[in-house]
Amino acid sequence: MSGWQGAGGALPTGVAVVTGAAGGMGSKCAACLARDGWKNLLLCDVDAARLEAVARPLRENGTNVEIIAGDITDPSFIAKIVSAAEARGIGALVHTAGIAPQMGTKERVLAINLDATLALVEAVRPLMTQGSAILLYASTASHIPEAPELEALFENPLPPGGSLSYADRVPGAMEAYKLSKRGVRALVRREARSFGKRGVRLVSISPGIVDTVMTEGEMNDPMRFMIDVAGVQRKGDPVELAEVSAFLVSPRASFITGTDLVVDGGQLAGIEHAEVAMPDLPK
Ligand SMILES: NC(=O)c1ccc[n+]([C@@H]2O[C@H](COP(=O)([O-])OP(=O)(O)OC[C@H]3O[C@@H](n4cnc5c(N)ncnc54)[C@H](O)[C@@H]3O)[C@@H](O)[C@H]2O)c1
Repeated sequence: MSGWQGAGGALPTGVAVVTGAAGGMGSKCAACLARDGWKNLLLCDVDAARLEAVARPLRENGTNVEIIAGDITDPSFIAKIVSAAEARGIGALVHTAGIAPQMGTKERVLAINLDATLALVEAVRPLMTQGSAILLYASTASHIPEAPELEALFENPLPPGGSLSYADRVPGAMEAYKLSKRGVRALVRREARSFGKRGVRLVSISPGIVDTVMTEGEMNDPMRFMIDVAGVQRKGDPVELAEVSAFLVSPRASFITGTDLVVDGGQLAGIEHAEVAMPDLPK
């Protein structure tokens, strides 16, 4: 007997927390969770005005939506999320907050995408309810190899000073992006068991090129290449990622933990089997 309780059980108790909820994918994740029956949402982002705009239609449809605005790298913001959720517990955390390489320095990319993710996961650990799940946003970029010694550094727990201790060894923001998301995937593998002992799943998702503010503007050569060689020859729609995210934190995904799900329209597979090498990513 597997001990499996059967598909389609009730949603776990607790609120559903979405970070980056004002963003392209985070806002769609919030909408999909509400549609799937999560009655209490806690939406977080640095952009208060856009958060309010995301919350409004969800509230009109009867979902209880609380918003918290702040910077995820600020420990007091994470503390606010914890105190808003702690009485009810957390049934799902979808952590999409992040920045692209062109949006900040290498230090900022590492701090937001990796250090803040590690801090958030630890902060919510005691709040996660039985059957709940944490979904972290990684990226297909993190599947494209970097220098092996840098990969090893970022796949291990960070030293007390955080990723800043390694920043000198990271050439630029693109490498920082790839390594930060590699660190996120490694965290999921490393901690799945400790969360599992408490009945909680921990999983990551690696989107390919998705149509949000992060990929707007003219496409560069590597982006065009990735789409040309892919199985689905277009950018992903944020809703396509949100649908998978809502599934991954639902009880229907009860055997998925400690792993990364690539949702990229076949872009990585296309790179692997292309007849010519992919153009270098911009620095
Ligand atoms: N768009 C893509 O092609 C793509 C591909 C792979 C991975 N991703 C990842 O998916 C996630 C969502 O990206 P998106 O495309 O929806 O981008 P987006 O910019 O639309 O959304 C990201 C959200 O995070 C918020 N945010 C950024 N820094 C923050 C901070 N310090 N504190 C709090 N909130 C902060 C932003 O305000 C924004 O609303 C990111 O982690 C990104 O790295 C995106």
